[in-house]
Amino acid sequence: MSGLAIVTGGARGIGAAIVDALIADGVADHVAAFDLDVEGTEPRSNVSLHRCDVTDVEQVRAVVESLGEQACVLVNNAGGGKAHPERTDGMPFDPFGPVDMWRESVDLNLSSAHLVTSVVGPGMGSGSAICNTASIAGLMPNALFAYAAAKAGLIHWTKCMALALAPAGVRVNAVAPGFIYTRLWEQMLPRAMFEQMVGAAVPMASEQTPAQIADTVSFLCSSRAAQVTGQVVAVDGGSVLGRPR
Ligand SMILES: NC(=O)c1ccc[n+]([C@@H]2O[C@H](COP(=O)([O-])OP(=O)(O)OC[C@H]3O[C@@H](n4cnc5c(N)ncnc54)[C@H](O)[C@@H]3O)[C@@H](O)[C@H]2O)c1
Repeated sequence: MSGLAIVTGGARGIGAAIVDALIADGVADHVAAFDLDVEGTEPRSNVSLHRCDVTDVEQVRAVVESLGEQACVLVNNAGGGKAHPERTDGMPFDPFGPVDMWRESVDLNLSSAHLVTSVVGPGMGSGSAICNTASIAGLMPNALFAYAAAKAGLIHWTKCMALALAPAGVRVNAVAPGFIYTRLWEQMLPRAMFEQMVGAAVPMASEQTPAQIADTVSFLCSSRAAQVTGQVVAVDGGSVLGRPR
């Protein structure tokens, strides 16, 4: 199937790599990338960039309507968190962190996927595919409390949606990236500390690239995965396996 794909958080990082992979693999012939921050992004052929906050249903509706076309692929990829330099209470690593920051994280990392899908999904025909960018944080306990809970919720919601949309011929899967030094990590840790963490946490001892995550998303959205639905694929160098005892 080839037509329009929508990729949220598609301006940079993993989302930008997903946009490129969908076009390179012929899964979509044009992509609408929705992003809160479109500053400084290079124009690319067959890609339209739309300023849009995916936690705001009115903005999402307006941008989707402006496309004038139904999507055959939807990638709910926007996520992560905002740096809060004014806060000194240790969020997001504080188990008793403030509820407004908890809500903000759940809004961005879980509720936005429902919100965008509720606008785009009803127009998707048989053979269409949805892929959600979860995280290994949603598969194993860690110290990113609200983010981890939201990503675990996203994985469970993926499976519920896969069951609900299967009769309509629409597949729903998720990818769970491990460690990629995008802006998301740049806001939290210096590069040297990130590398130390990867050395300790990843059995294959290397970080992943945005392109490696994008390859899996592109496969899951393609007709090659026509019988794959309700799955979460970790692309994490084996991190969820833990360490040998
Ligand atoms: N980088 C990692 O190690 C890693 C690991 C696991 C999961 N992930 C997930 O991968 C996805 C992409 O993250 P990334 O690493 O590329 O980070 P990133 O910060 O480079 O990219 C995230 C993009 O989402 C956009 N965005 C944020 N809030 C938005 C909003 N409200 N509306 C629209 N767009 C918004 C940002 O502007 C940015 O362009 C996220 O869902 C993240 O949780 C990343």
